[in-house]
Amino acid sequence: MAHGTLRVTDPAPGVRLLTIHRPQALNALNPQVLRELMQALADASGDASVRALLLTGAGEKAFVAGADIAAMRAMSALEGREFAVQGHALMRALEMAPFPAIALVNGYALGGGCELALACDFIVASEKAVFGQPEVGLGIVPGFGGTQRLTRLVGKGMAVELCTTGRQVKADEALRIGLVNHVVAPAALLDKGLELAGQIAQKAPVAVKLAKHLVQRGQDMDLANANAFEADVFGVAFGTDDRVEGMGAFLEKRKAEFRGR
Ligand code: CAA
Repeated sequence: MAHGTLRVTDPAPGVRLLTIHRPQALNALNPQVLRELMQALADASGDASVRALLLTGAGEKAFVAGADIAAMRAMSALEGREFAVQGHALMRALEMAPFPAIALVNGYALGGGCELALACDFIVASEKAVFGQPEVGLGIVPGFGGTQRLTRLVGKGMAVELCTTGRQVKADEALRIGLVNHVVAPAALLDKGLELAGQIAQKAPVAVKLAKHLVQRGQDMDLANANAFEADVFGVAFGTDDRVEGMGAFLEKRKAEFRGR
């Protein structure tokens, strides 16, 4: 399926791949791209067959080179705020999606592109990936959650350094500072994403969804409440047919057949 700026495919059972396709602007995010990503995410979230989402950028050069600077140039302060609100809504929707979302960063992930990757549940990078928050060079600040999600992932000191210098981080450093989970050769990026998504798709669907939500929602709670939430959700998982199947299959030494109930 093709929206105007998006390619939507299912490259393997249970796996939805979204490819941002604006090569003339290095896949920069304008209001249309944000709208189409939001719609594609809503479609995937409403489709129980989707077990994991992969998000990448078209072409060799960029994942997403940021929010669209030409579009932003014409915005008033209020329009700029609306644009940020639209971006934040998409990032939140990724975090709350009922399946893990994996960013496959194939090149530049700058500004809003870095923020889009950060809003995915985790990031796999190609050796050509470059991350950065260069907004201060344009007279603005990150507007799609970069100051907050970067801080949570790599810590305050590195987040302040990157958001105030605009310094670009290559794949090897991104791995070292915990910004990405894996770095692979450019030609192996999609295969790595499919491998991880395939592992997710084989596990119990309700348990996968609950595990993601525990991590995502728990990180904004204090430890005692987050652990109490985990205990409650652990109990909820015991109520699923898949829990009976998973434990039975282990003890009977056979492969589990999960039904997502
Ligand atoms: N917005 C709009 N157009 C962009 C763009 C962006 N963020 N990034 C690149 N493009 C366009 C360029 O204008 C150029 O278009 P033309 O061919 O029509 O001139 C085309 O994409 C190719 O880009 P370059 O010629 O610049 O390619 P390069 O290889 O020399 O450099 C780059 C690549 C380092 C990524 C460089 O394009 C660049 O620095 N881009 C801007 C990065 C940036 O500042 N991003 C942050 C935006 S602000 C933001 O994102 C705010 C937020 O938090 C929400």
